[in-house]
Amino acid sequence: MTTPVLEARDVTMRFGGLTAVRSVDFTVNSGEIVGLIGPNGAGKTTFFNCLTGLYVPTEGTVAYQGKVLPPKPHMVTQAGIARTFQNIRLFANMTVLENVLVGRHTRTKEGLWSALLRGPGFRKAERESEERALQLLEFVGLAEKREHLARNLPYGEQRKLEIARALASEPGLLLLDEPTAGMNPQETRTTEELVFAIRDMGIAVLVIEHDMRFIFNLCDRVAVLVQGEKLIEGTSEVVQADERVIAAYLGEPFEGEPDTAEAAEVDTAEAAAATAEPAGATTARAGTAGSETTEAGTAEVEAAGSADSTEGETQ
Ligand SMILES: Nc1ncnc2c1ncn2[C@@H]1O[C@H](COP(=O)(O)OP(=O)(O)OP(=O)(O)O)[C@@H](O)[C@H]1O
Ligand SMILES: [Mg+2]
Repeated sequence: MTTPVLEARDVTMRFGGLTAVRSVDFTVNSGEIVGLIGPNGAGKTTFFNCLTGLYVPTEGTVAYQGKVLPPKPHMVTQAGIARTFQNIRLFANMTVLENVLVGRHTRTKEGLWSALLRGPGFRKAERESEERALQLLEFVGLAEKREHLARNLPYGEQRKLEIARALASEPGLLLLDEPTAGMNPQETRTTEELVFAIRDMGIAVLVIEHDMRFIFNLCDRVAVLVQGEKLIEGTSEVVQADERVIAAYLGEPFEGEPDTAEAAEVDTAEAAAATAEPAGATTARAGTAGSETTEAGTAEVEAAGSADSTEGETQ
């Protein structure tokens, strides 16, 4: 039986004269992977921000498991909704493991005094947190890099670390904002597997993505947002075949896409490069995707600055 996990009713978000999200009704049921697609600037991230309390919607309500949520990020996390960000927000100078531990703090009961005195209760909670964090790193494939600084991870791994950190708050619903942005086809496929595995753990998933192959493969249901309004919602088959969707969205981004033969060639080259990578794969990859890694590194340092000051918001 499907029960609603998330119910957004009539959500509108205005910024001055601009209506970024207009009267959107939206439901995610338990056990579902739901996709949210739409052109750049359609209001997808703004809608996520309304769901997670980063923005207070101008109108409308958001309910999680039947209870209306107050628009406060920490209360939303505590209720059971976790998210990742379109612009990665990690603590750049913390280790991989520490980043996941940060994600766990909403679930640990130990208070400040207990932490300061480092009593037995605190040490036990700390041990349990660390075990769980390691499990999650294992789950996303980053256990071996637990002592690396987050800033030194390649871009794709930073995205996976964000997922591990989100999972550390033990959510019932996970929101992913462009989880495969900047990933190569192989990393995208691993992420697809990861999302299926998350769903199989009993966590409902709502995912924003521009990669249509990824979305239509993955999602039980897809909703299309255009200029802040929900144009259509349905199964992958229904949405893919809708003429308005093709005209409003699918038509354009695919114009410049490589044809099938070209795409296959790229896939083969990627696969060959991956199998040829020696054990020190990180260095090799950093070498080939040098500019991207540097870019991600820079972005991440900036993001970390803002994350430090908005720690309450991130989780
Ligand atoms: N804090 C803000 N203040 C003012 N306008 C905003 C704010 N956040 C978003 N907008 C505007 O709202 C609209 C929707 O932006 P949003 O980032 O939600 O789009 P999106 O669908 O996530 O796009 P993309 O696919 O490029 O990530 C845009 O016109 C954007 O400029
Ligand atoms: Mg966005």
